[in-house]
Amino acid sequence: MRSFLGRDILSLRDMERAEYFRVFEVADELAPVARNRRNTDLLANKTLLTAFYQPSTRTRLATEAAMHRLGGHVLGFSDAKMTRAGDFYQESIKDTVHMLEYYGDVIAMRHFQQGAPHEAARWATVPVINCGDGWGEHPTQVLTDLYTILRECGTLDGLHFMCIGDMRMRTMHSIGYAMSQFDIEATFISPPDMSLTEEFKQELRDLNVRFREAPAAADAIGDADVIYMEPVVQADYTRSRDEAKEDKGLTPPAYQVTRELLRDKARSDAIILHSLPRMDELPADVDATRHARYWEEAFNGVVMRMALLALILGAME
Ligand code: CP
Repeated sequence: MRSFLGRDILSLRDMERAEYFRVFEVADELAPVARNRRNTDLLANKTLLTAFYQPSTRTRLATEAAMHRLGGHVLGFSDAKMTRAGDFYQESIKDTVHMLEYYGDVIAMRHFQQGAPHEAARWATVPVINCGDGWGEHPTQVLTDLYTILRECGTLDGLHFMCIGDMRMRTMHSIGYAMSQFDIEATFISPPDMSLTEEFKQELRDLNVRFREAPAAADAIGDADVIYMEPVVQADYTRSRDEAKEDKGLTPPAYQVTRELLRDKARSDAIILHSLPRMDELPADVDATRHARYWEEAFNGVVMRMALLALILGAME
């Protein structure tokens, strides 16, 4: 197994099965710190730099919270538009990270351009964590999701996922790659204009991922151990910021998971994950059902980032 020390976390395409389990072991070890709302001094002499060029509630704050839990320091853009990358100069990723690497020991980057964290990693002498790049990938979210499934289902093998939503989403790409390392079958459901690209489907076939596509949640939910959701009414992730529209539109019933659908068609022990934020595809009254696991997923988001930071910065081997 490759060491995580000093490693960039850019994509799950090349992460191996044993590496997933090592991250999950470290997460288990560190989880009590977060659960008991304590801080440790594991990374007391390290600094995290968050370079977010796109809005975020969870990913940025969970990564920052993780660093605080480990006793490290945190600094980051208050608003990318108030940096030289976001004003008149449109400073390049290369020049920007040549600065940032002097200010911190690891860079957590979210960007509206697919591949921007990879470009940052080419030039930075410190590790770069991809916190979401355009329609590209979202590795730390999907590591969080898999960790949640492992905790909730006791295994990552022998499971059937129903992945529903906009298949252009970065989480859908990262989870597709991750599935190749486990005995997971998937059914993908999306509106036709948001479906998996032929290129990505070929990539999944080349990685021996077993999947099919279905037109509506009702057609596939009965097979699902894990219901993995994203909105279909959502922002354009290739833009730095997409303002709220007056009429955002509604999610067609085919892409919604409602309490009624769960009652009538879902397996009794199926669990729902949603990286959030949500629109109307997941009504709030589902929160009180036994299927909802997205708040546990949110807590695990801190734990997972603690594990990654501890491994990348050498506090854990
Ligand atoms: N799930 C997720 O990436 O949320 P944020 O956009 O709030 O970080």
